[in-house]
Amino acid sequence: MTEARPTAPATGKLGVLTVGLGAVASTFIAGVELARRGLAQPYGSLTQLGRIRLGKRTDGRNPLIREFVPLAGLEDLVFGAWDPIPDNAYDSCLKCGVLDKHEHIFPIGDFLKSIMPMPAVFEQHYVKRLVGTNVKAGKTKRELAEALRQDIRDFKAKNGCDRLVMVWCASTEIFIVPGPAHETVASLEAAMDANDPTIAPSMLYAYAALMEGVPFANGAPNLSCDVPAMEKLASEKGVAIGGKDFKTGQTMLKTVLGPMFKARMLGIAGWYSTNILGNRDGEVLDDPESFKTKEESKLGVLEYILQPDVYPELYKQMYHKVRINYYPPRGDNKEGWDNIDIFGWLGYPMQIKVDFLCRDSILAAPLVLDLALFFDLAQRARMAGIQEWLSFYFKSPQAAPGLYPEHDLFIQLTKMKNTLRFIMGEDQITHLGVEYYEYGKDQ
Ligand SMILES: NC(=O)c1ccc[n+]([C@@H]2O[C@H](COP(=O)([O-])OP(=O)(O)OC[C@H]3O[C@@H](n4cnc5c(N)ncnc54)[C@H](O)[C@@H]3O)[C@@H](O)[C@H]2O)c1
Repeated sequence: MTEARPTAPATGKLGVLTVGLGAVASTFIAGVELARRGLAQPYGSLTQLGRIRLGKRTDGRNPLIREFVPLAGLEDLVFGAWDPIPDNAYDSCLKCGVLDKHEHIFPIGDFLKSIMPMPAVFEQHYVKRLVGTNVKAGKTKRELAEALRQDIRDFKAKNGCDRLVMVWCASTEIFIVPGPAHETVASLEAAMDANDPTIAPSMLYAYAALMEGVPFANGAPNLSCDVPAMEKLASEKGVAIGGKDFKTGQTMLKTVLGPMFKARMLGIAGWYSTNILGNRDGEVLDDPESFKTKEESKLGVLEYILQPDVYPELYKQMYHKVRINYYPPRGDNKEGWDNIDIFGWLGYPMQIKVDFLCRDSILAAPLVLDLALFFDLAQRARMAGIQEWLSFYFKSPQAAPGLYPEHDLFIQLTKMKNTLRFIMGEDQITHLGVEYYEYGKDQ
């Protein structure tokens, strides 16, 4: 046992501010309310259902994670959101068509109608396929960020919140390359004053959150807080940050299958991934500039896992392609196909086909909940800066400068559980296990 990190208790209300009140955010909010009323189960959420082993395998200690670490309870959550589309959470749930209206929307209609989106900081230049009417006006980007800061303070006071956390659940913006404006806090602020086009709205939300001491988790592949200036600001202000891009469907599978091939030294000639998707996210990603941001996030995963430079004979020639096709009839029910051409002993080829008929927002909603609760935990445990231990939830995990991120889902899970043990002063679990055998006892 080591010493537990001093961690403030999770008392009082936790305000969860989502940027965006579309399919993912409204499904998340509705799901929490349904769970607290006992009308549905929060499946898919590790904070609600997951357990953690403590000590030796023979000790029989296996508490629920939410009983092991001090997490905010579902009953303590209050919700706020920004969206350029003025629909409240009820209308958003109905329009997004994720949830069954009789079973999961009408019974909590009054609650959902009470969640109205605050006017957003939005510019169509960054999300070409959206038209927004519920939008803030301001002469400079700095002014807009200040307006978001005011929203944060007002929300906190009005709802009597003890703490807040912000999760980006809004659209994927156009691809932006990190540049000089993103280097230091001073250059970032100067760029905001000068309305520099490399400062996207997502950065203004991240900046506002950090200035208000609110942890920020980024569920889309936008740069947002993944630039040196934001990292510096986060450590200056002592705030937790992390991202990017929820790891839900096809990429989650990739980060399970990829490590399997590598573990068995099976080569890969090609990996072709395609998707059909008919929700608003699919429509936004139909724009090549937004798709480019998503593509980068989806493609990077295999490079890191397979290490083609270390295993050139197995992976150097691999052809990796990812497509997303907007196909309205399917709505939120994405179908993702993977065709993987592998080769084994003596070079003989084999194929694997995966057809994942998933529900995008059903997969993403529990991640929003877990991220909100864990970012709040990190903040109370005074773990400022990048939360690499939460890379489990992200396609393109943010890591310390110069460090490559871990993508393998089960390494990420081990890392996360060990971090929880670290926070609580419990022994790390290395899975060595020689102590159970005679040969381990003579050391
Ligand atoms: N499985 C998943 O669903 C999944 C996985 C990974 C990432 N994501 C990402 O999560 C995000 C949300 O997905 P979704 O299906 O809910 O999309 P959605 O289109 O239903 O909702 C996004 C909402 O964000 C709003 N928005 C856009 N720009 C905004 C701004 N500047 N400020 C405030 N709101 C803004 C839009 O109006 C829209 O209502 C997308 O970026 C998506 O790529 C989703």
